[in-house]
Amino acid sequence: MKVLVIGSGGREHTLVWKIAQSEKVDKIYAAPGNAGIAELAECVPIGADDCEGLLEFALEKEIDLTVVGPEAPLVDGIVDLFTLKGKRIFGFDARGAQLEGSKVFAKEFMKRYGIPTGDFTVFDNTDAALAAVESGTPPFVIKADGLAAGKGVIIAKTNREAIAAVLQIMKEKAFGAAGDRLVLEEFLSGQEISVLAIFDGETYRLFVPSQDHKRAHDGDEGPNTGGMGAYAPVPIADAGLLERVRTEIAEPTFDGMRREGFTGAGVVYFGIVITPDGPKVLEYNVRFGDPETQVILSLFDGDLAEVMFQAADGKLDEVVFSNSQMVAACIVIASGGYPGSYTKGYSIEGLDEAKTRGCTVFHAGTKLDEEGIVTSGGRVLGVTATAPSLEEALDVAYRGVDAITFTDSFNRTDIGRKAIEKA
Ligand code: GLY
Repeated sequence: MKVLVIGSGGREHTLVWKIAQSEKVDKIYAAPGNAGIAELAECVPIGADDCEGLLEFALEKEIDLTVVGPEAPLVDGIVDLFTLKGKRIFGFDARGAQLEGSKVFAKEFMKRYGIPTGDFTVFDNTDAALAAVESGTPPFVIKADGLAAGKGVIIAKTNREAIAAVLQIMKEKAFGAAGDRLVLEEFLSGQEISVLAIFDGETYRLFVPSQDHKRAHDGDEGPNTGGMGAYAPVPIADAGLLERVRTEIAEPTFDGMRREGFTGAGVVYFGIVITPDGPKVLEYNVRFGDPETQVILSLFDGDLAEVMFQAADGKLDEVVFSNSQMVAACIVIASGGYPGSYTKGYSIEGLDEAKTRGCTVFHAGTKLDEEGIVTSGGRVLGVTATAPSLEEALDVAYRGVDAITFTDSFNRTDIGRKAIEKA
């Protein structure tokens, strides 16, 4: 089979790495890919948002399976476009992608199908939103309706911060049309976990639950990022909790997706907070998480290419889907300044040594130039290790991190620590 993977981050390197392990796969293309992906796939210079260009490429190369990494092409309807031309693609149609593409749609969907989530109000008028946060009691969760590159959710600890957030989103249009509407949501406190599933319209299968670390610095300090490290499985997500996630969240969601008539097969990512009243949904995504993918696919024992191929044909029930009993940890190494501005082009040393130390190093923001492999993004690498226990996985992963150097790099040193302290 010939596979095309769309995207260029750590998630996509992990997808390519896992797909390359399939005996059924002869050739992988990545659009546009990165320096790590280029070791396993042929990278082609087509942007992840160029849906027409990607379709043209898939037709020309007779691609058997296209896998969509990021959310934007899904929201833009790439699955509808490919399906119309009879090309097999893994992902949901544009209507299904609204679960991630519109916070308003997602919250109203959850309400329609009785899925536990925080209380919320939707505003399409700046003055009404301002009045609500002026008179309300903090903290507030304020979400721009549309896609905002992971920056559209603001937790405001005071009324003043909330007013600034509403103005930023609705008046200053910091996220463009994504801020035409806004969701003001109840703040839910508790540990967050990411539960990812593959759903083909009928059957679903769950990956191992994982936990991301969203803040830039140790102790959950600093600004929100795309994710600075992850581990899986998560000890607090025990069998009892996972059963509640299945019956109270996953199954009603899939039932709702069937009833709404969404088409396609893809990933449903449940961002869940474990409250004293049980698990509640913070957000849906319709794609693999980053860096969650680095750990959950390190623990996935099946043939991912075959799973996605069959799921795209509505036959997920016919494939083996099994997760290992090991533990995986991923530490992200980032460029100094991330998630704000940072310098690119620094030479990266020590990648082979990290591998020698037992790690798999997934590239995120890297590229190959005449100097060798250099930095080209905020999150640069995801150093990942698998072991029988979390302590061992973290130990190996951090030894890999110690081997790698580039100017101004930083990483969190406390990934997974809360889970170890609680054990
Ligand atoms: N790591 C968070 C996300 O992928 O959305």
